Amino acid sequence: MRISIIGAGYVGLVIGACFAKLGNEVVLIDVDEEKLEAIHNKASPIYEEGLDELLSQVHIEVSTDYQKILPSDIIFICVGTSSDESGSIFLEQITEATKQIAEVVKTREGYCVVAVKSTVAPGTTEELVIPLLETSGRKVGDDFGVCMCPEFLREGKAIYDFMHPARVIIGEYDSKSGDMLYKLYQSFNAPILRTNLRTTEMIKLASNAFLATRITFINEIGNICKQLGIDVYEVAKGMGLDDRIGSGYLNAGLGFGGSCLPKDLKMLISGATEVGYKPTIIEEISSFNDAQPLRFIELLKKHISLKGAVIGLLGLAFKPGTDDVRDSGAIKIVEALLQGGAIVKAYDPMAVKNFSKLFPQIEYVTKEEVLDSDAILIVTEWEEFNKLDYKGKVVVDGRRIVKAREARIYEGICW
Ligand code: UDX
Ligand code: UDX
Repeated sequence: MRISIIGAGYVGLVIGACFAKLGNEVVLIDVDEEKLEAIHNKASPIYEEGLDELLSQVHIEVSTDYQKILPSDIIFICVGTSSDESGSIFLEQITEATKQIAEVVKTREGYCVVAVKSTVAPGTTEELVIPLLETSGRKVGDDFGVCMCPEFLREGKAIYDFMHPARVIIGEYDSKSGDMLYKLYQSFNAPILRTNLRTTEMIKLASNAFLATRITFINEIGNICKQLGIDVYEVAKGMGLDDRIGSGYLNAGLGFGGSCLPKDLKMLISGATEVGYKPTIIEEISSFNDAQPLRFIELLKKHISLKGAVIGLLGLAFKPGTDDVRDSGAIKIVEALLQGGAIVKAYDPMAVKNFSKLFPQIEYVTKEEVLDSDAILIVTEWEEFNKLDYKGKVVVDGRRIVKAREARIYEGICW
């Protein structure tokens, strides 16, 4: 099929490369020329396992010019949807992209489907995207179709997740729209659920909120276990053996970060509040998670006074396998350390470039130099941190690095 993707970010680029690999004709549109140039030269602008190799195997047309999407059967919207502190999402990117698509739909002969992949609050596709597309003078259902088809990719495992989806959810304006996406996804070995647009938008938000809930639940159990001298990882193992519970997303620690889980909770909270419902559980999960990195700092303060101390961070990315630092726990930790007067040194195998844009004032060093600090904080569970020599050190561990237990003083966040 002929597929266009608007937004060559973490999601758009991965799905573009994967759809091309599966034999589709792919056009990738972005406003960022530097990013497109890198992709054109087959160098991924982000770190994602297997992506450079995949880009070297496929042909993708890249452009800033929306006219290139004219012949497409399906146009996926994959631009970002960031949110501010209050949780209200900024829909500028999606609004701008949709307006540009409408200009193309205006002149297009024949039917095509516009499919939203960006995470949006329930109702957004119907109330924002469709009206904007209809400013073209064309009519949804007759001249073009609309779907909402979220991705459930985990960064670091995105290509694997794309190729092996647990499920495909197709939210459709009408069955003609959905048929087009069904045709694209039917060869995947996964159940396909076809439903309406706003249900699909909610499935995406509820799924991420549920994962966030599991993590927060085990973090709370972990905080209790620590007081009682019980190993929460053994507890999680025991719980996970019950297949009603399952073992996923029960790793206790610093909490969740990234571009999705924190933002999606906020999106749910503001959506609920707008319709007059107070989502107490979800609000509590969000604020519990915000507080977990600060709890971590309190544990550090048991062993060292921050003022003038050299504190070394192992890990800055929101999880291993990515260079992404969006909503990483490291951000709150560094803020608190700097506020307390500490001198901060940090190491991450992939995320230094992105983190240094947020914190140019801290020192970025090798992992060996981090080990020379007065105290070491483990923030991301990169595998290589399991090979360091922690003997004689003071370590506060947010991610359960077993080798770090050799430290002179070792303190786990929930264990
Ligand atoms: C995606 C989803 O879209 C988001 O809603 C979801 O919650 C997480 O995954 P992501 O791929 O991580 O977002 O976003 P990002 O890496 O910021 O990429 C968005 C891209 O869209 C950027 O390359 C940006 O330059 C581009 N863009 C943005 C456009 O091309 N046009 C615009 O008008 C705005
Ligand atoms: C998530 C969803 O998993 C994915 O389906 C969706 O499309 C995008 O959002 P991602 O943000 O890439 O993916 O990362 P994920 O692997 O889910 O981890 C999210 C955060 O939770 C990370 O900060 C991670 O460290 C943390 N986490 C995860 C835990 O603290 N404990 C766990 O057991 C699992």
